[in-house]
Amino acid sequence: MSATIIDGKAFAATVRGKVKDHVTALVADHGITPGLAVVLVGEDPASQVYVRSKGKSTVEAGMKSVEHKLEADTSEEDLLALIDQLNNDDTIHGILVQLPLPGHLNEDLVINSIDPAKDVDGFHISNVGLLGTGQKSMVPCTPLGCLMMLRDHHGSLSGLDAVVVGRSNIVGKPKAQLLLGDSCTVTIAHSRTKDLADVVRRADIVVAAVGRPEMVPGDWIKPGATVIDVGINRIDAPEKGEGKTRLVGDVHFPSAAEVAGAITPVPGGVGPMTIACLLANTVTACCRANGLPEPEGLTA
Ligand code: GUN
Repeated sequence: MSATIIDGKAFAATVRGKVKDHVTALVADHGITPGLAVVLVGEDPASQVYVRSKGKSTVEAGMKSVEHKLEADTSEEDLLALIDQLNNDDTIHGILVQLPLPGHLNEDLVINSIDPAKDVDGFHISNVGLLGTGQKSMVPCTPLGCLMMLRDHHGSLSGLDAVVVGRSNIVGKPKAQLLLGDSCTVTIAHSRTKDLADVVRRADIVVAAVGRPEMVPGDWIKPGATVIDVGINRIDAPEKGEGKTRLVGDVHFPSAAEVAGAITPVPGGVGPMTIACLLANTVTACCRANGLPEPEGLTA
C-alpha cells in the first residue's frame, strides 16, 4: 500500500474538540448554550442508532440536546406544528429531522418548514440556493466534513481536477458546489456517465458517493490522487463466518490504496466527520443567531 490513510476518526475528534472549546467559551463569556433538536418519526432501526449517537455527541460537546420521537403514523400537521415550536424556541439553534420520513409525509415540505438559520443539515431550499450562489449558508454535514479533510491534506484545492461520483442532494451536489467554491474544476459523474472510468482517471480528487459497494476499482484512480469514499455499504463476509457481514465503501480500498496518494478508509473515514460537522454547524448557527463571530475552521 502506498497511499496515506486519512484518519477520519482522529480528524473528527479534533473537530469535536474545537466545537467543545467554542461551546465552553460561549457558556463562560455569554451565558449561551447551543441547543440541537433532533426529530425522529417512526422506528427505523438505523435511524434510531444515528439519532442516539447524535444526542450523545451533542451532550459530550457541552451542548443542549433535545430528542423528539414521534409515532410512525404522526400526521404532517402535527410534525409541522412541532417544527414551528422549535423554530420559535430561542434555546434551540439547530433542528434536524431524521430522514427518511415515513411515506405519508412530504419530505420537501417538512424540510422547508425548518427555519433556514436553524437548518443544520443544510437541506432547506434557501440554504441550497445560498450555497449554489457562493453565499453564507448552512452546509450539509457530510460534504462539509469531506471538504475539511481535503483542505487539511492539500492546503489549497485551487485548480485541482475533482470528480464527484454521485448526484444526490445530500452529498453529490453540495460537495460539487463546495469544491467549486474552493476553485476546483469539478465534474459530477453518475450511473449514466459515459466512460466513467476515464472520467475518474482524470481526477486529482475523487469523491465517491454512489452507495454501491466497491464500485470504483483501483485502476480507475490516477496515481497520487486523493480519494474520499463517502459510501458505507454492508456486504456479506463469509470469510468471517456464516452470516457475518462487513462494511465497505464505494471504492475498492485494497486496489485503490495501491495507487492513490491519500485515501479515506471505511469505516473510520468520512463517517465520523458527519456528526462532528453537525455539532460544528450547531455552534455556527448559535453564533450567527446571537451576532457573535463564527468559530474558526468549522465552516465552509
Ligand atoms: N439520514 C441519513 N443521513 C442523514 C442526514 O445527514 N441528515 C438527516 N436529517 N437524515 C439523515
